[in-house]
Amino acid sequence: MKDVAPRSAVQGQIIEAFSFRHATKVFDPEAKIPEGEFATILEAGRLSPSSFGMEPWQILVIQSPEKRELLRPFSWGANGAFNGTAGQLGTASHFVVFLAHTGATMSHESEYPMTHAREVKQFPEEALEGFNAAYTKFQKEDFRLDSDREITNWSARQAYIALGNMMTAAAFMAIDSCPIEGFDAAQASAVLETHFGIDPKLCKPAVMAAFGYRAGPPMFAKTRRSLDDTVSWF
Ligand SMILES: Cc1cc2nc3c(=O)[nH]c(=O)nc-3n(C[C@H](O)[C@H](O)[C@H](O)COP(=O)(O)O)c2cc1C
Repeated sequence: MKDVAPRSAVQGQIIEAFSFRHATKVFDPEAKIPEGEFATILEAGRLSPSSFGMEPWQILVIQSPEKRELLRPFSWGANGAFNGTAGQLGTASHFVVFLAHTGATMSHESEYPMTHAREVKQFPEEALEGFNAAYTKFQKEDFRLDSDREITNWSARQAYIALGNMMTAAAFMAIDSCPIEGFDAAQASAVLETHFGIDPKLCKPAVMAAFGYRAGPPMFAKTRRSLDDTVSWF
């Protein structure tokens, strides 16, 4: 499919927001996102879709500079070591860690899926048995999520959807962001347990994100494969 021109106003705004967004390496440390706008970013995450509507994520917003520093030694993708700056950790207005729920809560054998279906999704009692059967079949047969690691990775995939939506919401408000996978997951998990009270049996770090306002122009030009190279129509 070729680019369709002319674009409607909404199409133009969408492309503008996606073009504006880039993986920001250094933020203006003095520029703070207004509370209401960050609340909207969080709301975009909360309202995100998830498989079976399980919302298998937790979102930590880390504003304490001391707490952020605990992440620095093993977060090579956010510590600015590559460009000699304080990195996203030291300059972002808001710094987020997404946690993925493990099998302890998300397995079809645990209590959580049914409790969530009943209490959050408000499924009627008569629908619960069918829901449980579908969820169990999905995990055991369709996607074969048969280890704690598989289930945690599945949860992380859902968290990435929330992450994407939060970055897009930010871009619509001219707020910059950076997704961050550049960290040692085992060390992050250990620090989160010791200093943030996160039980690694229940939640593991999936991905991080920084939000704020760029300190300067993007460090890298935005490059992408062509649409023809990316999309096949049948
Ligand atoms: C899941 C994920 C993890 C990423 N991790 C990092 C990171 O740790 N540090 C960083 O500076 N950029 C990180 N990036 C940014 C990518 O390098 C960037 O999105 C890509 O090069 C395209 O550039 P653009 O986003 O500026 O268009 C990550 C992106 C994604 C989607």
